[in-house]
Amino acid sequence: MSSKIIIANFKSNKTREEYEVWLETFEKQAHTIPSTTKVVLAPPAVDLMFFANRLQDKKTYPTTTLGIQDISPFPAGAYTGAVSTRNLEGYGVTHAIIGHSERRTYFHETDVDIANKVRESLGAGITPIVCVSQETITSQANAIDNHDRTKVIVAFEPLDHIGTGIADSLDNILRAKELVQEAFGKVPYIYGGSVDLHTELKLLEHSDIDGFLVGSASLDPKTFLSLIHLVK
Ligand code: PGA
Repeated sequence: MSSKIIIANFKSNKTREEYEVWLETFEKQAHTIPSTTKVVLAPPAVDLMFFANRLQDKKTYPTTTLGIQDISPFPAGAYTGAVSTRNLEGYGVTHAIIGHSERRTYFHETDVDIANKVRESLGAGITPIVCVSQETITSQANAIDNHDRTKVIVAFEPLDHIGTGIADSLDNILRAKELVQEAFGKVPYIYGGSVDLHTELKLLEHSDIDGFLVGSASLDPKTFLSLIHLVK
């Protein structure tokens, strides 16, 4: 069985109290997650400390770590409102979601911004999960420093499959993998876009896909756990 990574991207959905309820349900079953599956929970930045405290208990969370949904493109300093990698010291953040299409659309992030975020992340030992769509694979890879390019995880996130309830076809996802590997090199390759309990097993179990970025289906802990168990 190959090892997989599954990231919960909670976006900006819940209150602290709701996360507490989420974790209470999740932590009862977290020990059933196969040791070959790495789970990353990415809450809003304001809730990182709360999650970090809970995830410290490695007996309850043997394979689950913490992610951040975005990161500053700048080092620590006078950048009001930004969360720098220095701010994250001590939280145990292992992964950063970078360049999500919602960041590009609503916050006007560019390939260069995203490349800077990759550099900051790697400098702090945080693995960047670089999100690309068909349209941005090549330009995004080109914007990232040669040495950094092969150190990222690439998440293929086709725009018309995010939040629509219909995941892309396995064929398209595998075709995009070829483009990603031409542009980035042999990096871990994951898929995101309406992955849920209806997603076909041949996608969830495919050995050429290293994991999944999950939005809506991560909001209910039972659904998310069931999904984790379907991924092989
Ligand atoms: P979705 O979101 O699972 O709700 O489609 C995925 C994502 O935005 O990464």
